[in-house]
Amino acid sequence: MFRIVRKERLNQAVVLFEIEAPFIAAKARAGQFVIVRANEQGERVPFTIADYDAERGTITIIIQVIGGTTMELDRLGVGDCIKDVAGPLGVATEYGDAKRVAVVGGGVGCAIAYPQAKELTKLGAEVDMIAGFRNKDIIILENEMRAVSKELHICTDDGSYGTKGFVTDKLEELFNLGKKFDLVIAIGPVIMMKFICAVTKKYGIKTIVSLNPIMIDGTGMCGCCRVTVGGKVRYACVEGPDFDGHQVDFDELIRRNGAYKEHEKDHVCRLTGGVRNG
Ligand code: NAD
Ligand code: FES
Repeated sequence: MFRIVRKERLNQAVVLFEIEAPFIAAKARAGQFVIVRANEQGERVPFTIADYDAERGTITIIIQVIGGTTMELDRLGVGDCIKDVAGPLGVATEYGDAKRVAVVGGGVGCAIAYPQAKELTKLGAEVDMIAGFRNKDIIILENEMRAVSKELHICTDDGSYGTKGFVTDKLEELFNLGKKFDLVIAIGPVIMMKFICAVTKKYGIKTIVSLNPIMIDGTGMCGCCRVTVGGKVRYACVEGPDFDGHQVDFDELIRRNGAYKEHEKDHVCRLTGGVRNG
């Protein structure tokens, strides 16, 4: 059992959990993920590790409360335990010798973009962060992101905070201003990662994306998380979740991630008794 030592609501639908998991904390690196089961009968849900502290023996995950399992997790508080946390899984992010990096986060994806910026800054790289949200009420981790970047650019779709527009507009603006990056890391909705890659391809900048296909076992056995990268089938759970964004077939990923949308709408959740919203 994995005890929750800190719980923080970042916005109405996003919750941070710091969980005692000393063996995972000792091995975890930025870009890896865990698979969580809330209870014995629970479904297995992957969450990217948002932070880890080997000394405290804890890892942090940040969840969007969107369906039955995340609602069940949200009912837990400090001192409660999660049945299973398996990991660290996946391959840690490889930065090469990048010195000037743009880290782009979209919405909840900023929870995962933040540790990337933190790790890169620790390694001595100069990091600009671009963080996009629909509006100012759902901005998360602003202070944390500011602390680990040379410049933080917040964008909102409706212009209620920061620059009005998408993260793609801001990245293009920085390129037009003559900013030079030797690596871009993009984490957020698949559509955002697709269009960030369209921008960086024009400028010939290497781009790493963190893919979030549907996963079941997380160990390369079920085939559920397959994605096409450079024309080849790759398994995000064991070969990813990071891939070269210029090689990813995003349209296929969007199609596969939407495969159960209709079933989810009709599915009466056994936990809430209502229709699942995720
Ligand atoms: P959202 O839909 O509110 O979008 C966030 C931002 O992304 C927008 O403000 C905008 O700047 C940008 N964006 C969205 N659509 C765009 C487009 N068509 N072109 C250019 N930019 C666009 O995001 P949300 O509702 O917070 O959802 C976050 C998503 O991130 C979820 O789909 C979740 O699955 C995903 N996610 C991915 C990972 C990962 O590891 N890849 C981790 C956490 C979350
Ligand atoms: Fe089953 Fe990746 S989640 S193979």
